[in-house]
Amino acid sequence: MLAYLLMAFEKVAAPGAVAPGEMVEIRRGEQRMVLCHAGGEVRAIDGSCPHAGGPLAQGALHGTAIVCPWHAWEFDCRTGEHDFNPRVRLQTYPVEVRGDGIYVDCD
Ligand code: FES
Repeated sequence: MLAYLLMAFEKVAAPGAVAPGEMVEIRRGEQRMVLCHAGGEVRAIDGSCPHAGGPLAQGALHGTAIVCPWHAWEFDCRTGEHDFNPRVRLQTYPVEVRGDGIYVDCD
């Protein structure tokens, strides 16, 4: 309960901004994030590839796997894990889809 109270959800997109099987990029200052609608849920994850900064939202979404458009590294959008190297992981963020929009705890 206390952890939930400390969360700082911010509205980042309108309801329905990301269709099932698609991704959209959102910006929060200099921070690039991806909203992806995969596995029946909207998820939020860092939007810059840790390999060389590729824009992940411009890549492909195969099921729950985000494929970087530059060199095809793959990440699970549910966990942020790289598909081969467990030491490489993208930050994921809690998401709430409410009646008036999509909210992300960006901190
Ligand atoms: S920048 Fe993403 S795989 Fe190289």
